Amino acid sequence: MLRRLYSVPVQHLTKSVRSQFTSAQTIDVESLVPNEYEAPCMKTPVPGPRSKALCADLDDVNANIGHVHFFVNYEASRGNYIVDADGNVLLDLFTQISSVPLGYNHPNLIQVMMDPNNMASLVNRPAFGNFPSTDWPETVRNALISVAPPGMRYVQPMMCGACSNEHGYKAIFMAYQRNKRGGLPPTQEEMDSSVHNMLPGSPKLSLLSFTNAFHGRTTACLSNTHTKWFHKLDFPTFDWPCAPFPKLRYPLEEFQRENDAEEDRCLEQVQDLMEKAEKKGEPVAGIVVEPIQAEGGDNHASGRFFRELQKIAKKNGAALMIDEVQTGCGPTGKFWAHEHWDLPQPPDVVCFSKKMQTGGFYFTEEMKPTSADSYRIFNTWMGDPTKLLLLREVINVIKSQNLLENVVVAGEHLQGGLSGLQRAHPNKLENCRGLGTFVAIDLRNGKMRDEVVKSLRNEGFIVGACGERSIRFRPALVCQKHHISMFLDQFEKEILSLP
Ligand SMILES: Cc1ncc(COP(=O)(O)O)c(C=O)c1O
Repeated sequence: MLRRLYSVPVQHLTKSVRSQFTSAQTIDVESLVPNEYEAPCMKTPVPGPRSKALCADLDDVNANIGHVHFFVNYEASRGNYIVDADGNVLLDLFTQISSVPLGYNHPNLIQVMMDPNNMASLVNRPAFGNFPSTDWPETVRNALISVAPPGMRYVQPMMCGACSNEHGYKAIFMAYQRNKRGGLPPTQEEMDSSVHNMLPGSPKLSLLSFTNAFHGRTTACLSNTHTKWFHKLDFPTFDWPCAPFPKLRYPLEEFQRENDAEEDRCLEQVQDLMEKAEKKGEPVAGIVVEPIQAEGGDNHASGRFFRELQKIAKKNGAALMIDEVQTGCGPTGKFWAHEHWDLPQPPDVVCFSKKMQTGGFYFTEEMKPTSADSYRIFNTWMGDPTKLLLLREVINVIKSQNLLENVVVAGEHLQGGLSGLQRAHPNKLENCRGLGTFVAIDLRNGKMRDEVVKSLRNEGFIVGACGERSIRFRPALVCQKHHISMFLDQFEKEILSLP
């Protein structure tokens, strides 16, 4: 169905011709993004006067407005297009830091919210750990378990990405100590000392992470976050081991020998750091890694790297936790990015949030808390039932509209277009890389990158920045070739105008 859809060069049709298409074929084209705008339409620079006035208004009630990009009219936003407070219509290829799976105001999701059968879930927000609703097991099964990573059959819903990682860490520490006790219950001394952050109940354990990793902003997650100083300054964190993440050369297939050597260097460091931690008396209970480092610069590593990493973790009695907060739910062309690696065994913990609508983590049998562990992985809400209702429909749309295939097709178009521009402007663009639509490209330096991102926004195209000098693309799963063609035309103009 999608191939037929893409054989129609929609982007070349005039509005009047497009409006004549009322056949099933056109409905196919439109069905991914119903009632979408035709193209970006700009009235003011962004942020415009109304956004600026709202910023002043927000400042007055003391929120931190330093990170506000612009104010949004969510009622008017549709599909791949976001509409700002000044009436500008922008093609959104960054989608709220990669967290919008089906675009704005998808009719199926509106339907879920309007369904009277869902009213009780909308108006009551239970403490799910204590008082789950009668339909909760079925909802968890239909939503989260239906897309569980291969080999994983347990899930714990949580709140945001950091909260999910933080609790994933705790599951790893608990399993590590459970193993160490050989199935015996904790001693009274362990229980009493833990309350005062003392040994033996509060053990010296660590989690190994990587340079340029980003795992969130809560304290333990921050200990494993190594991107920008402003995330970390003034906060006491754990001094846990941090191994170098491979710095690969792109395109990956052209530099396989050099890249293999670089990955081996990093893997040796992982092993070395784990031995050192063991000797120091702070053994590594788990290795935490993103499938593609996102915030840190869209840095890739090969499937071989991750398979070797899993071997090292197993050899040293540590768990492997994959942080799929940004890569999960389809943007790489598989539902989970780690499915690209052919791991011989499932990871021990896989965390998610963003496009999944709810935070949470999947885990294996060994990571499952026992019945004696009640309240040890817990918070008041433990997820949000309305988000699971939405997720159930998101999954339904992904499957019924074959959106993972759409991501592959759109991603090839994006990467092909960017690679072409890179070949034409080798002194301005480099390192085009990606999986599916999870794509990035580097500009010569950070200043130039920031200028291009800003100028693109004023022309009606939103992209993200990451790392030192990268532009990252995080479109919704419903972004199609014709959207990308529009972007590529504008991007070429931006690149041509650079000195
Ligand atoms: C890989 C990764 N992990 C964790 C987080 C933290 O998620 P949240 O901002 O929802 O706490 C992010 C956020 O960007 C992320 O990209």
